[in-house]
Amino acid sequence: MSENATHNIPLEETRQGEVLNLLEATNGNGNKLLYLESYGCQMNFSDSEVVASILSEHGFKTTREIDKADLVLVNTCSIRDNAEQRVRNRLTEFKQYKRKNPSMVVGILGCMAERLKKNLLEEEKLVDLVAGPDAYRDLPHLIDEVGTGQKAVNVLLSREETYADVSPIRLDQGGISAFVTIMRGCDNMCSFCVVPFTRGRERSRDPKSIVQECKTLFEQGYREVTLLGQNVDSYRWNLSSKGEIKNENEPTVNFAELMAMVANVSPMLRVRFSTSHPKDMTDEVLHTIAAYDNLCKYIHLPVQSGNSEVLTRMNRGYDRATYLDRIKAIRNIIPGCAISTDIITGFCGETADEHEDTLSLMREVQFDYAYMFKYSERPKTLAERKFEDDVPNEVKTERIQEIITLQTQHSLYWNQQQIGQVQEILVEGPSKKSEAQFCGRNTRNAMVVFDRGSVQKGDYVKVQITDCNSATLFGTLIS
Ligand code: SAH
Ligand code: SF4
Ligand code: F3S
Repeated sequence: MSENATHNIPLEETRQGEVLNLLEATNGNGNKLLYLESYGCQMNFSDSEVVASILSEHGFKTTREIDKADLVLVNTCSIRDNAEQRVRNRLTEFKQYKRKNPSMVVGILGCMAERLKKNLLEEEKLVDLVAGPDAYRDLPHLIDEVGTGQKAVNVLLSREETYADVSPIRLDQGGISAFVTIMRGCDNMCSFCVVPFTRGRERSRDPKSIVQECKTLFEQGYREVTLLGQNVDSYRWNLSSKGEIKNENEPTVNFAELMAMVANVSPMLRVRFSTSHPKDMTDEVLHTIAAYDNLCKYIHLPVQSGNSEVLTRMNRGYDRATYLDRIKAIRNIIPGCAISTDIITGFCGETADEHEDTLSLMREVQFDYAYMFKYSERPKTLAERKFEDDVPNEVKTERIQEIITLQTQHSLYWNQQQIGQVQEILVEGPSKKSEAQFCGRNTRNAMVVFDRGSVQKGDYVKVQITDCNSATLFGTLIS
């Protein structure tokens, strides 16, 4: 995992839920300085861009130098305990800056703010302000409140807020790839998951504002958008009531239709999305992906476990057979589509045989990539109330090692399959290791490294794949 990543961090790093994302200095409409750090998923990074936008209207410019900041905000994640620990350590580090600059205001945003509410003010004495994910429009007012010597909290969750009319300030100005939030919250109640408590009820955003945002991004030079939601397959917008679905017979826009609308912005704009849910992903969505070249041939379909009883305890709403049926549909409808997944190991009551089922499902599907986690019990979740977190940590560690070893073989297998192919790559910029080499992704979301030649970031180029390891493809530029 990398620290000080730029905004455009690879998906595998953002999903960990613990990654630090620092913004670049941007212009705002004033002279007060905001330092904003983000942890967690892409959704949080996208929210930070909304926050930067709201505050730029109220006199804040962003800075990367914390010791110069008037306002320090940390956008936090609660998905696993280690994600929260990391933020707590960071808050302790802030003490030295606050000692030097007592008028500096420190605020907590995001999922930890929502989960811990005003306890954060009491526990962590240096926090002045707490704002949950639906309260960002209130930030200017909360900052004023702190200015009058009070501690300020707003953790109200909303059924409507989508920040549809706020145009996010992109934290990697001049970038190639941007996140676009299409819905907020989650109505599923996976028993391990804290998100429904920290993000509230599911609501979709007006498709017009989504398409407009994508058009603007394209005009600014962006060449890739990732549409974000906790369960994109349940995206739905009622065209007559402008939002909530009250009458099933009224005309709506579903996720497949939304993707087609975004794909039509320009054939030169690549479209990705995250996250699909196995219980809701329709064939219509798959046919739409197959129909448009610029809808990337890559689906992230979290399985969590390969055992149906564990899936029932997780309250995921599908069993092993249903999951495998969705994989079959992807392979039939979109030949050559890459598939990645999320796996939780050591969930409550997971037996050795149940763990074995996860390994056998992995062998059956052969995922291109997987994000693999040890189960971490979260307060207030169904699992915390109903089950015991009874798989010892050593066993979780052993199981995750087995899972990682197997996944590495599968990732290598898929990369080897691509050697010899000529692929279209969207150039992202210099590779991590050398300025002489450039990197970019293919439609399957695999990173490809090649000698720079005369290409520029944002170009589409043809690269012949010549070599690989389990994480990266290497190739030669042919146009
Ligand atoms: N909405 C997405 C997941 C968002 S959270 C979906 O339904 O797939 C990202 C991943 O974190 C989850 O897929 C899961 O694998 C992992 N995760 C969530 N809660 C967890 C917990 N309590 N312990 C360990 N991993 C967890
Ligand atoms: Fe959490 Fe499940 Fe919602 Fe994903 S679908 S955010 S795992 S409750
Ligand atoms: Fe973390 Fe909240 Fe995202 S808990 S993973 S930041 S939705």
